[in-house]
Amino acid sequence: MSYASEGGAGAVIVRAEGCSRVYGDGPGSVTAVADADLTIRAGELVALVGPSGSGKSTLLSMLGALLTPTAGQVWIGEVDVTSLDERRRTQLRARRIGFVFQTAGLVPFLTAEENVATVGAFAGLPRRVARDRSRELLDELGLGERAGHLPDALSGGERQRVAVARALLVDPPVLLADEPTAHLDSDRGQQVVELVSAAVHDGARAGLIVTHDLNVAAQADRILRIADGRLIVPTI
Ligand SMILES: Nc1ncnc2c1ncn2[C@@H]1O[C@H](COP(=O)(O)OP(=O)(O)O)[C@@H](O)[C@H]1O
Ligand SMILES: [Mg+2]
Repeated sequence: MSYASEGGAGAVIVRAEGCSRVYGDGPGSVTAVADADLTIRAGELVALVGPSGSGKSTLLSMLGALLTPTAGQVWIGEVDVTSLDERRRTQLRARRIGFVFQTAGLVPFLTAEENVATVGAFAGLPRRVARDRSRELLDELGLGERAGHLPDALSGGERQRVAVARALLVDPPVLLADEPTAHLDSDRGQQVVELVSAAVHDGARAGLIVTHDLNVAAQADRILRIADGRLIVPTI
């Protein structure tokens, strides 16, 4: 059984309770996220929208165990991420969370296939398994013919699709994407959103996509809005 289907369809995979993040201290401190509560279920894609500086990336980073909340807790499955030491948090990220950011951040001297396969090492995936899976994923994402290319020889949209493949290498139960279409035209952006959406729905992952684009948000199962660090609770 893959991680992604752990707990059965619709199980809560990501949970935040009273999650806050304050940067700095004293009068100059900034409350980037205040008291956020949310859950994301397996197979559910949630869009997080809000103005620039409203706390979207900070919230995503806390959900992805990249950033420790200054108050509150985050669970991935049964694991209280906020209680883990640094080593275990790193391990949890490598094995259970796929990340896609605004720019692909590919290693310029590795081919697409190598870029994807390389992250397997952090999750303890044997090299050959990582390589085979990398090839498979690139095929699935329509990049089979690009697998041997260096990032420089790929378009921006192709690089972002490689980044999606990389995020999926270890078949993680959680996929977090922070404005993955911000630097793409709408057609290329749409391709990336479709890949993210398929990865979440077909892979029964818990997905969060941060976006400014309402067309992108409309493709999620649910939209969360954030303003000034506070999630806006729908009144209906
Ligand atoms: N490392 C940091 N140190 C201090 N302030 C930060 C840091 N990261 C973000 N902030 C502040 O926190 C607020 C939320 O930022 P961010 O989460 O990046 O918002 P968004 O992703 O919605 O644009 C902003 O006021 C930003 O300036
Ligand atoms: Mg941001």
